Amino acid sequence: MAKLAGSSILFSFLFSLSLVAMNVAEVTSEDAPVLFIFGDSTADVGTNNFLNTRAKANFLYYGIDFPYSIPTGRFSNGFNTADQIARLFGYKTSPPPFLVLEERQFSFKKNILNGVNFASAGSGILEETGLRQWGEVVSLGEQVQQFALVHGNISEILGQAKAASYFSRALFLFSTGSNDLFDYSRNESGSIRLGKEEYLTYMQQNFYVQIRKLYNLGARRFGIVSIPPLGCCPAIRALNRSNGGKCVVELNDFAYAFYQATESLLKRLSFELKDFKYSLSNSIAMTLPVLNSPQLFGIKDTISACCGTGYLNGEGGCSKPNNTDLCKDRSDHLFWDLFHPTEKASELAALTLFQGSLVFMSPLNFSQLARTA
Ligand SMILES: *[C@@H]1O[C@H](CO)[C@@H](O)[C@H](O)[C@H]1NC(C)=O
Ligand SMILES: *[C@@H]1O[C@H](CO)[C@@H](O)[C@H](O)[C@H]1NC(C)=O
Ligand SMILES: *[C@@H]1O[C@H](CO)[C@@H](O)[C@H](O)[C@H]1NC(C)=O
Ligand SMILES: *[C@@H]1O[C@H](CO)[C@@H](O)[C@H](O)[C@H]1NC(C)=O
Ligand SMILES: *[C@@H]1O[C@H](CO)[C@@H](O)[C@H](O)[C@H]1NC(C)=O
Repeated sequence: MAKLAGSSILFSFLFSLSLVAMNVAEVTSEDAPVLFIFGDSTADVGTNNFLNTRAKANFLYYGIDFPYSIPTGRFSNGFNTADQIARLFGYKTSPPPFLVLEERQFSFKKNILNGVNFASAGSGILEETGLRQWGEVVSLGEQVQQFALVHGNISEILGQAKAASYFSRALFLFSTGSNDLFDYSRNESGSIRLGKEEYLTYMQQNFYVQIRKLYNLGARRFGIVSIPPLGCCPAIRALNRSNGGKCVVELNDFAYAFYQATESLLKRLSFELKDFKYSLSNSIAMTLPVLNSPQLFGIKDTISACCGTGYLNGEGGCSKPNNTDLCKDRSDHLFWDLFHPTEKASELAALTLFQGSLVFMSPLNFSQLARTA
């Protein structure tokens, strides 16, 4: 019994450390923009810890390179892409998850003004995405509803006039869409059977609705991370074992078509809406240099996951309790687990998002998006 109590004290000590590490998004630079982050596992910093879902990363080896080696729910060995972007803007980590802020009312007002992360692993642009595969997830539409609550709280704290200027200067960042395409590939999008083009149109229609809702709540600066070449992640390569684990071209083409459709959508929105500003990444173009010349980026393995099981470590998740493979040098792998980049790869991606040229980021990069008048 004593032993049990001791370990639970240790656990709660570690857990509170992890909350501190997760929540103290200290601003080191005076004019860092406030960040509101939406999306999936690439940006989730603990949302899914609160959900009844199979999409979880709150156990080792997740977080092995995070401060104190604490698994926080991030699908990474360390900082994920949301953190890396926040760090480039001068914060220590991503802003905390909405569900953490909501639970801890005492520090709510103090924390909420530094931004909120709504991203939920397994979710997509469509309401139904991820439900069958993962169980409970927070869809983009629900994330926007949560933002509407936060909007009300902040407007109350700042007053209408100050709040309007606060929201118009904040960055609204999105990293979503991959799970919609994965669900489509599994033929799992509820009852609807659509062709690829129709499915993309359906996704863009919902994306449009959600962006307009945010605009109506005062959002003006939108940063969108497009879908990466999904066909090259270890989980998908493993499905193509008979071809030596080559990338599945069809899925990469689908991801590129999403990028093109999103570009048209954003052009339309900036035509329709006064002061609408955006920055869109071409995530396929961003990834190609690393896939083609990994050594230029200090990476040795772009094919297999550092942590996982089976062929290319792409056939099963990463889990210390299950004693899965773990590579020696996390920083020389592009992929951490069967779907997700390493901390190192997220850092490289964030650098391009922040300061990349027009080939990768158009019409502005994130640092320009934050500063533009
Ligand atoms: C935030 O707003 C919601 C919805 O209006 C409200 O229920 C909640 O109490 C508010 N939270 C705080 C701390 O003001
Ligand atoms: C997807 O599933 C539906 C219903 O189960 C089936 O009718 C359809 O042929 C499937 N489509 C593809 C592309 O596999
Ligand atoms: C598998 O690999 C081959 C060879 O690169 C590629 O042409 C094909 O698109 C891949 N996908 C599938 C589903 O087999
Ligand atoms: C660990 O193994 C069990 C039993 O095979 C499995 O149900 C579970 O999903 C595995 N956990 C992870 C995180 O892969
Ligand atoms: C993107 O950001 C950097 C740093 O803010 C800037 O110097 C550069 O000109 C930008 N890139 C592109 C296309 O303009």
